Amino acid sequence: MAKQTSLLGFFLFGFLCFICLPAEAALKKYQFDVKLSNVSRLCHAKQMVTVNGGFPGPTIYAREGDRVQINVTNYVQYNLSIHWHGLKQYRNGWADGPAYITQCPIQTGKSYVYDFNITGQRGTLWWHAHILWLRATVYGAIVILPQQGTPFPFPQPDREEVVILGEWWNADVEQVETQGNALGLPPNMSDAHTINGKPGPLFPCSEKYTFAMEVEKGKTYLLRIINAALNDELFFALANHTFTVVEIDAVYTKPFSTEAILIAPGQTTNVLVSANQVPGRYFMAARPFMDAPISVDNKTATAIFQYKGIPETVLPKLPTLPAQNDSDFALSYNAKLKSLNTPKYPANVPLNVDRHLLFTIGLGMNPCPTCINGTRLTASLNNISFIMPQTALLQSHYFNIKGVYTLDFPDKPPTPFNFTGAPLTANLRTNLGTRISKVAFNSTVEIVIQDTNLLSVESHPFHLHGFNFFVVGTGIGNFDPKKDPAKYNLIDPIERNTVGVPTGGWTAIRFRADNPGVWFFHCHLELHTGWGLKTAFLVEDGPGSDHNILPPPKDLPSC
Ligand code: C2O
Repeated sequence: MAKQTSLLGFFLFGFLCFICLPAEAALKKYQFDVKLSNVSRLCHAKQMVTVNGGFPGPTIYAREGDRVQINVTNYVQYNLSIHWHGLKQYRNGWADGPAYITQCPIQTGKSYVYDFNITGQRGTLWWHAHILWLRATVYGAIVILPQQGTPFPFPQPDREEVVILGEWWNADVEQVETQGNALGLPPNMSDAHTINGKPGPLFPCSEKYTFAMEVEKGKTYLLRIINAALNDELFFALANHTFTVVEIDAVYTKPFSTEAILIAPGQTTNVLVSANQVPGRYFMAARPFMDAPISVDNKTATAIFQYKGIPETVLPKLPTLPAQNDSDFALSYNAKLKSLNTPKYPANVPLNVDRHLLFTIGLGMNPCPTCINGTRLTASLNNISFIMPQTALLQSHYFNIKGVYTLDFPDKPPTPFNFTGAPLTANLRTNLGTRISKVAFNSTVEIVIQDTNLLSVESHPFHLHGFNFFVVGTGIGNFDPKKDPAKYNLIDPIERNTVGVPTGGWTAIRFRADNPGVWFFHCHLELHTGWGLKTAFLVEDGPGSDHNILPPPKDLPSC
């Protein structure tokens, strides 16, 4: 009875809201219990860290304009924090989540409420643990619907589905990470990729662990695809069906159709797919893209696009994914991504740049007497391997705690060299430090992120917290400050929060620093983040109390 009443209330409420536009912002509350759960895949059972026992964890549903409060309670042995990847957290870095950057981690037995407004964003984002390698199992989707009465700027789908791509290790992921670090080598690669936590029938013991979505002929579906893998850029396709890409990182795009998508860790992609083929069973499949001489977990995860009424005895058909090293597909796919750029959804690209930054990506080896080869693999930006502080940077800045970081991160590489010329095995010994850049409020910033051949070229997905940026240019080889800017797209470049820097190439991004706080900037390959491929921007307060960092919440964890 109670259920019926609340259902009726729900419909009445929905109806009233519809006639009383614009809708009032709602408060959405969630409880996240971080706890150990028994999970088994590939015939291996293990205890792992989950949220509310789910793998993936719960989906956060909200509408643009809503306020969201998520109370995270930590019942595991690790101190941890959760990041709401892609949410801008205007003036509110306290709710951003990267451990030791915006907050100290939530200690065992403690809780912290992430309290934030979702302003000016709608689409698919996601959340994940932001410390150690815990995000291997602690992640989930964020679905932000447009405001009541505002349709999508594309044909309305009949239904939608979240599709989260991930990785699975048979062993305990924290042990895998610790072991790799002790040896100074990359930790063991994953044993499988997963789709909604499930590897699919190409793996043993997977009958129960296959994700299937039932579809009806003639209907259209919106897939909200998220790459939550730690270290692998992925291709994703569905046999016999084409995707229409309509949104990237919670920003609408100019629609285009494609046989497969490419998605890097951290990125999200919404596609429309019509169930317009002969009713049957078709595989969706995900497999890595890797165009450098570096080994990856190359196994294919599958899920089933199941037309209604087709018996499960019918063998599904596999899609043809681009070859693992198909750089051409990657370049041409990324070139198709464009902002929608309509009056309602404009692309506000900064046209003038106040601050020009050039950051080089370097892999390297530093001496390590206890490591297996006497060296430890490391990574750096402008030759600096970032050292995590003991106190969170945002607190240190806000409360004026001295000695935690220095504001001398260089705007340019200290020693220029032919970044992408002949392979360079000579090691530019990296400097260690908690060095970050100070950026004036509301200034416009351009960062050219340049891959180098130090140790090896590789494609790196870079993620900026606190902002979306525009990807104004990209290319292979060395960035040429004289010629390349003339080729920039300043009209409708893609706006996003994570971008792939191509193997042996560069990517130029622009953003307006209108969000005061301390914002992390890092490679979203967990392997490289751990090796130091990261820094942060300290964006100063603006004039007047409306442009300052908000006061911290009372329950902010201490270190
Ligand atoms: Cu999705 Cu700093 O991370």
